[in-house]
Amino acid sequence: SELSMSWQNPEFHRQLEAVDDHSINPTDKQGLGDIALSRRTLLKGLGAASLATLLPSLLSACSASKSPQASLLGFQSVAAQTSSTFDSVVVPAGYQATPFFSWGDAVLPGASDWHSDASNSWEDQQMQAGDNHDGMHYFPFADQPNEHGLLVVNHEYVNPTLHPEGMQFTAGPDNRRERPAEQVHKEIAAHGLSIIEIRRNANGQWQRVADSPFNRRITASTPMAVSGPLAAHPTMRTESDPTGLEILGTINNCSMGATPWQTYLACEENFHNYFVNRDEADYDARPTHKRYGIGLGGSSRYYAWEAIEPRFNATPDASRPYQGHVNEPNRFGWVVEVDPFDPDHTPRKRTAMGRLGRECATCVIDDNGHMAVYSGDDARGEYVYKFVPQQPYRAGDSAHNRDLLDAGTLYAAQFDADGRGRWLPLRWGEPGLTPENGFADQHAVLLNARGAADAVGATPMDRPEWVASHPTTREMYVSLTNNTERGKADPTDAANPREQNVHGQILRWREDDADPRATEFEWDLFVLAGERQKADNSIPSHRLGNINGDLFSSPDGLAFDPDGRLWILTDADEQAPYTADIGCNQMLCADPLSREIRRFLVGPRGAEITGITWTPDARAMWVNVQHPGISYPASDGKTRPRSTTVLITREDGGVIGS
Ligand code: FEO
Ligand code: CA
Ligand code: CA
Ligand code: CA
Repeated sequence: SELSMSWQNPEFHRQLEAVDDHSINPTDKQGLGDIALSRRTLLKGLGAASLATLLPSLLSACSASKSPQASLLGFQSVAAQTSSTFDSVVVPAGYQATPFFSWGDAVLPGASDWHSDASNSWEDQQMQAGDNHDGMHYFPFADQPNEHGLLVVNHEYVNPTLHPEGMQFTAGPDNRRERPAEQVHKEIAAHGLSIIEIRRNANGQWQRVADSPFNRRITASTPMAVSGPLAAHPTMRTESDPTGLEILGTINNCSMGATPWQTYLACEENFHNYFVNRDEADYDARPTHKRYGIGLGGSSRYYAWEAIEPRFNATPDASRPYQGHVNEPNRFGWVVEVDPFDPDHTPRKRTAMGRLGRECATCVIDDNGHMAVYSGDDARGEYVYKFVPQQPYRAGDSAHNRDLLDAGTLYAAQFDADGRGRWLPLRWGEPGLTPENGFADQHAVLLNARGAADAVGATPMDRPEWVASHPTTREMYVSLTNNTERGKADPTDAANPREQNVHGQILRWREDDADPRATEFEWDLFVLAGERQKADNSIPSHRLGNINGDLFSSPDGLAFDPDGRLWILTDADEQAPYTADIGCNQMLCADPLSREIRRFLVGPRGAEITGITWTPDARAMWVNVQHPGISYPASDGKTRPRSTTVLITREDGGVIGS
């Protein structure tokens, strides 16, 4: 029977959103609750003792917000778009938003044009922009930083629009889904990253450089190296790669990071949806599958690539070397470092940073080169992490910096009710991280970082997405996008205060002494997203937010511009009744001191707004429109929609948002 889903079927997008929503944190079922509790109790005492240090800074934050400072926000907010047929991008008066780089656009010299009926072959797709643009970063060239750079764009996953006939699945035996090979190859080619050279021409217009030697596609089949503690480790070896040193491809690259040494960190988020293990007993005994929610039985959740590419079938096969591909899922969930300025660079998976459903890798550095890389693990009840490299960054010393991310300490965050918090080291031998609990050594801790964070008592969060760092204070912000199951397996707490949390919140913290290596911090909730009460009192309390300004739901993308404006990009379910007044997904801008939030951009119906980057002078900004639902960017009501990077500039050439 035919299980095809058409690209016109919005239910398909909804299902893809829903699968990254599954709660798979089995903390309560692992018998580690006692360890977590005792540690938490012990540390609570410490937290209370330092309340005295917290109060003065809270008071100073309050007085700062009351002082009559000029607002950082210098634009007129745009209205919410609640029409089901809205199909463009709106920005404030005085600004322009121009489609700049869409799925199917040529990347490599000689690439085919995009065919509007999606008839490009998979070989064409390897040379064109991938689908579902997500995190991205502009890397300036030193001599003309505001006129010339490389734009690196993640392609998180693929839509049924990729194929002329939609995505085809046929039912096979044992609940398996079969796939046409051409479609699978095209889907693999539409994942990964694009690297494109861009520059302002003599008329001041930004353009893509068509024949640039820097232009590159990295896909779900590009060879990558493994570095750090798990390089060549037995748990990384497969029938196809007996060395454990070469992995084909990167998948589900959601958000990202950029290092001070000008490399890109692509993050592998919902990799579990690409694998299946059909052996239930093995699955239950294998935390690197079960704790990460790899598919069980039948087919992988998203695309059933295993029907064509055997390495996505992670069922152990005792008759094959290395049991076939049972270790293949261990080779995903990493930070992948890419040097965009070296077109021959082999991307490296940095295993010292741990294996997560990794949303982002936000790099923060202080004046002494001390560094931390912050990540959210975006699933219900998962954690906020940071990685502190063993060595500081040294400006200009590329030999020293090149492998900085191969050694360091991974931590998970614990948020206490009193506004203090701490970083719990995921270091083998710590209480809970011992052989009795399934952690034979540090390799096991890194491979099952989620399980390690369970064991040490990290705080289960409402789906941590992007982390942003204030450019001067280094105050940190994380978007907790939503968690409709809050109050069930995970009770509400101070950091995740609403049951059935459909709108999400933004939490912020300050490391002690603003030191990225600190092991303690103070935190507060910056904003609860959501609705305002109506005259008839019809909004239930769990949906009420405390936004000072324009309404939004489900913050996801989060980034600071060089002046300290906080930009918030949303990924709400537009079909949910509780988003009727909030409308299409959008980008807003917040003043961190006054907490005023203004809506800057609204995207087309069906899209998530994600991915944000600037030139160093913040006079050009790029934002991604991911999976628009109608016909954007053609916006003619009939052309197949395409994920698109949008260029935003001011008509007077000024700083965006000021
Ligand atoms: Fe791909 Fe958590 O967003
Ligand atoms: Ca995201
Ligand atoms: Ca999304
Ligand atoms: Ca999201």
